Amino acid sequence: MNLKILILPGDGIGVEVTSAAVEVLHAMAKKFGHTLELSEGLIGGIAIHKTGTPLPKETLDKALAANATIMGAVGLPEFDNSAPNLRPEKGLLDIRAALKVFANLRPVRTYPELIESSPLKNHVIEGTDMIIVRELTAGLYYGRPRGIENDRGFNTMSYTRAEIEQVAHVAFKLARNRRRKVTSVDKSNVLEVSQLWRKVVTELAGQYSDVKLEHMFVDNAAMQMVLRPTQFDVILTENTFGDILSDIGGILAGSIGMLPSASLGANTSGVTQGIYEPVHGSAPDIAGQNKANPFGAISSVAAMLEYTFGLLPEANAVNDAVGKVLASGRVTADLKPKGAPATTGQVGKAVSEAL
Ligand code: IPM
Ligand code: MG
Repeated sequence: MNLKILILPGDGIGVEVTSAAVEVLHAMAKKFGHTLELSEGLIGGIAIHKTGTPLPKETLDKALAANATIMGAVGLPEFDNSAPNLRPEKGLLDIRAALKVFANLRPVRTYPELIESSPLKNHVIEGTDMIIVRELTAGLYYGRPRGIENDRGFNTMSYTRAEIEQVAHVAFKLARNRRRKVTSVDKSNVLEVSQLWRKVVTELAGQYSDVKLEHMFVDNAAMQMVLRPTQFDVILTENTFGDILSDIGGILAGSIGMLPSASLGANTSGVTQGIYEPVHGSAPDIAGQNKANPFGAISSVAAMLEYTFGLLPEANAVNDAVGKVLASGRVTADLKPKGAPATTGQVGKAVSEAL
């Protein structure tokens, strides 16, 4: 199979983890006899520096022409006080919107090998295996009006029935192949937008009578995720709540560097376009030091093989290789290895060899 993929390393550690992920991609292609048609593009702070905009048209055109996009991270402290449309993050938000990837899948699991890497008690996190389905192209991130006027800042959290339904379908379908439970997270005791969210999700659940639906307020959900994470199978939530809750997932998994993500749109013409990126950010404090954890980026490659290309054995092979390297203890410093920490490059190489 020919895999047409755009690589967007972006800023900070995005560059290092993406290069490890691409190395693994090459090893996978070689092993399974696939051809890679890779292109590279600019996004984020580096794109602002080189082209004056966080998402150059050329990048967007390449993304639209590719089957999938692998992203590193965006964000640099020097843009902290820049205008809204000249921030690295705006490039990410714009590419998500342009590719219409409304469903962001963020699996969170506790690997037995990493149980000591989490600050939480072993018996609490043992067996954690959930997937957060975060709505990605609406809500506070995109709602209008927005702005700062006369010393008042404002944003709008807005959802239409259609926007809620399309992401809820993804959550219910995923649950069918898992433990058949969806926890819809909202703030319907306060927010009207959440009241509509809850109503629409409840109505939709009628089409999935084999899946159990429960509702939870977001403040309680944050607490439950660290109190009893094993109660969750699929968490369905809106954009901002999903952003916040998925970082808690990093604590359950041992390090935020472990978490992959898949941002998916509708399946048109038989291919699900997707953006695949680790959940972590650009971590400017450790950028360029070859010590960032590339597992989130590498697992995102596995997600891409599964969701965009339907290559399940290939995806499993990558995940198995990750498992082997985890078991070998050759991991980066964030995972608190017993021996000397491995570098980003060494982990990428080890996973490729394990393949
Ligand atoms: C994430 C990140 C992004 C988000 C930032 C970089 C815009 O935090 O993917 O979780 O908020 O969506
Ligand atoms: Mg985030």
